[in-house]
Amino acid sequence: MVLKAKFLIICIFGFTMSVAGIGINSSSAMETDECLECHGDSSFFDEGGPLYVDGVQFASTKHAEDGCGSCHYVTDDHPDDGVQPEKESCDMCHEDAVDELARGLHAGNAECIDCHDPHAVQGLKSPDESCGMCHDEAVEEYLNSHHSKNAVCSDCHSPHKVISHLETSDFEKNKQCIACHEGAGHSEWLLRNKLHMQATTCISCHTDSKGIVVTMYIEKREDVEPDKKGGIALATYRDLTQLVGDKGVQSLIDANGDGFIATAELKEFNGNSKYDSVGLWGVLSTKTSSHVYGVFEDRRDCSFCHAAGPKAMQTCYVAFPNQDGTFSKLAVEEGALLDPLFATPDFYMVGSTRNNILSILGLLIIAGGLGAASLHGTFRILTRKNRRKH
Ligand code: HEC
Ligand code: HEC
Ligand code: HEC
Ligand code: HEC
Ligand code: HEC
Ligand code: HEC
Ligand code: HEC
Ligand code: HEC
Ligand code: HEC
Repeated sequence: MVLKAKFLIICIFGFTMSVAGIGINSSSAMETDECLECHGDSSFFDEGGPLYVDGVQFASTKHAEDGCGSCHYVTDDHPDDGVQPEKESCDMCHEDAVDELARGLHAGNAECIDCHDPHAVQGLKSPDESCGMCHDEAVEEYLNSHHSKNAVCSDCHSPHKVISHLETSDFEKNKQCIACHEGAGHSEWLLRNKLHMQATTCISCHTDSKGIVVTMYIEKREDVEPDKKGGIALATYRDLTQLVGDKGVQSLIDANGDGFIATAELKEFNGNSKYDSVGLWGVLSTKTSSHVYGVFEDRRDCSFCHAAGPKAMQTCYVAFPNQDGTFSKLAVEEGALLDPLFATPDFYMVGSTRNNILSILGLLIIAGGLGAASLHGTFRILTRKNRRKH
C-alpha cells in the first residue's frame, strides 16, 4: 500500500503525541471522526475496498451514536502497532436477534454479517449480496419477477427465525400474499372462489412450480364450512393433546406409530366417534417451489387440478401441529385421496377419483359451468354421510 501524504502527517502527529505523553491509553482516545480521517477518506483507501468505511452512510445508522469504538478496540498507536483491531461480536447488544437466529434453520448456517453490513445497518445488503450468496436460484428467480421491485425477501420469510417451507402451514403462506393482495378474490371466473382460496395455495396457481401435493390439516369441527365462517380453525397442539393424552398428537391418526399413515388408519380415524370434534381440511399445493411469480394461463383451466388424473393425486400428507407453532408432516399411503367416500370424506377433488360416477358427475359440473352454481357443495353433501356427525 502506498502511504499517502496525509497518512504520514497523521502518523507523525500521533507519534509526536505519544512521545509527548499526551495520548490516552484507551480505545476511546480516538474518536469516530478521527478513524474516518483515514478509513473514510477515499484518497487513503479505495472506496468500496475492505478498509474503506463510508462515513456519511455510517453517520445515518443507529450504530453511529456509539461510534467505531463500540465495536473495535484500537490502540493509540494504530495502525503502527501491528495489532489487528478486534471486532466486537453483535451478540453483546442484540440478544433478541441472536436468540431468533439460534432457533431457526439459519443457526450455524448464516452469520449476522452475511446479511448485514455492520457499517450500514439501516438496510440489508442487497438480496444478491446477502441471501444470494447461499440461495442463488431463489434470488435469480425473484430478481426476474414482479416482486423484485415490490416485495423483499423478508416480507415473506423471517430471516432470523427461518422455518423450512415444509414446516410452514399453507394457510400461513397464503396469509403472506393476502397481506399485500387483499382484494384478489377471483370471483369473476373461479367458481366457489372462497373455497378455492382456502383449499389451494396462491403459489400453486401463481408460480411456475410443478406437481400436486395435498396436505390435510386437523381442524376443529364447528368451523368446517369456510363460506359461512370465513376461516379455518386449526386444532392446536394443546387441543390435540387433550384428545389423545400423552401418546403424542400423531397417534390421533397414526395409530400404530410407524410414522406413516395407511388408508386404513384414515378410515379408522374418520369412523371413531371419540374424535368427533375434529376433522381434516385438505389444501392443495405444488410439489416443487419457485419464485417465478405470474399469471399462468394453464391454471385458469379447471382441469389443471380437477382432471389431473389419479397419478397426480398420489402425494398426500397429514400435518400435525407442533408445540412451537410449526407443523410436522406424515406421508399418507398412495391412493387415499382416490377414495373420498371413506378415506378422505372432507376432501373431494371433483373429477379426479377412481369412482367413475363421481368423476363423471364432477366433470359435467365443471364443463357445465353455470349448472355448478346450483350444485355447489353437492359433493360435500354426497360425502357428508360418511363424515362423523356433528
Ligand atoms: C492514521 C490512519 C488511521 C486511523 C486514524 C485509523 N486507522 Fe484503522 N487502519 C489504518 C491502516 C493503514 C490499516 C491497515 C493496517 C494493516 O493492514 O496492517 C487499518 C486497519 C484497521 C482495521 C482492520 C484490521 C484488519 O482486520 O485488517 C480496523 C478494524 C481499523 N483499522 C479500525 C480503526 C478504527 C476503529 C479507528 C479509530 C478508532 C481507526 N482504525 C483509525 C489506518 C488508520
Ligand atoms: C456494530 C459494530 C461495528 C461498528 C460500530 C463499526 N464496525 Fe467496523 N467492522 C465491524 C465488523 C463486524 C467488521 C468485520 C466485517 C466483515 O468481516 O465483513 C468490521 C470491519 C471493519 C474494517 C475492515 C476490516 C476487515 O478486515 O475487513 C474496518 C477498517 C472497520 N471495520 C472500521 C470501522 C470504522 C472506522 C468504524 C467507525 C466509523 C467502524 N468500523 C464501526 C463492526 C463494526
Ligand atoms: C455496542 C452495542 C452494539 C453492537 C456491538 C452492535 N449493535 Fe447493532 N444496534 C445497536 C443499537 C443501540 C441499535 C439501535 C437500537 C435497535 O435497533 O436495537 C442497533 C441497531 C441495529 C440494527 C437495526 C438498524 C435499523 O435501522 O433498524 C441492525 C440491523 C444492527 N444493529 C445490526 C448489528 C450487527 C450486524 C452487529 C454486529 C456486527 C451489531 N449490530 C452490533 C447497538 C449495537
Ligand atoms: C439471513 C440473513 C440475516 C441474518 C443471518 C441476520 N439478519 Fe438481521 N435482519 C435481516 C433482515 C432481512 C432484516 C429486516 C431488514 C428490514 O426489514 O429492512 C433484519 C433485521 C435486523 C434488525 C432490526 C430489526 C429487528 O429484528 O430488531 C436487527 C437489530 C438485526 N437484524 C440484527 C441481526 C443480528 C445481531 C444478527 C446476528 C445474530 C442478524 N441480524 C442476522 C437479515 C438477517
Ligand atoms: C412473495 C413472497 C416471497 C418472496 C418475496 C420471497 N419468497 Fe422465498 N418462498 C416463498 C414461498 C411461499 C416459499 C415456499 C414455497 C413452497 O412451499 O413450495 C418460499 C421458499 C423459499 C425457499 C425454500 C425453497 C427453495 O426454493 O429452496 C428459499 C430458500 C427462499 N424462499 C428464499 C427466498 C429469498 C432469498 C428471497 C429474496 C430474494 C425470497 N425467498 C423471496 C415466498 C417468497
Ligand atoms: C451464509 C449462507 C446463507 C445466507 C447468507 C442466507 N441463507 Fe437462508 N439458508 C441457508 C442454509 C444453509 C439454510 C438451510 C437449508 C436447509 O437446511 O434446508 C437456509 C434456509 C433458508 C430458508 C428455508 C429453506 C427451506 O427449506 O424452506 C429460507 C426461507 C431462507 N434460508 C431464506 C433466506 C433469506 C431471505 C436470506 C437473506 C435475507 C438468506 N436465507 C440468507 C444459508 C444462508
Ligand atoms: C410486500 C407486498 C407483497 C407481497 C407480500 C406479495 N406481493 Fe405479489 N405483488 C406485489 C406488488 C406491489 C405487485 C405488482 C403489482 C402490479 O404489477 O400490478 C405484485 C405482483 C404480483 C403478481 C403479478 C400480477 C400480474 O399482474 O402479473 C402476482 C401473481 C403476485 N404478486 C402474487 C403474489 C403471491 C402469490 C404472493 C404470496 C406468496 C405475493 N404476491 C406476495 C406485492 C406483494
Ligand atoms: C385456481 C388458481 C388460482 C388461485 C388458487 C389463485 N389465483 Fe390469483 N389468479 C389466477 C388467475 C388465472 C388470474 C388471472 C385472471 C384474473 O385476473 O382474475 C389471477 C389473478 C391474480 C392477481 C392479479 C390480478 C388482480 O387481481 O390484480 C393477483 C394479484 C392474484 N391473482 C393473487 C392471488 C392470491 C393472493 C391468491 C391466494 C389467496 C391467489 N391469487 C390464488 C389464478 C389463481
Ligand atoms: C389449483 C387447483 C385447482 C384449480 C385450477 C381449480 N380447482 Fe376447483 N377445487 C380445487 C380444490 C383443492 C378444491 C377443494 C376440494 C375439497 O376441499 O373438497 C376444489 C373444489 C371445487 C369445487 C367444489 C366441490 C365441492 O365440494 O363443492 C368446484 C365446483 C370446483 N372446484 C370447480 C372448479 C372450476 C369450475 C375450476 C376452473 C374455473 C376450478 N375448480 C379450478 C382445486 C382447483
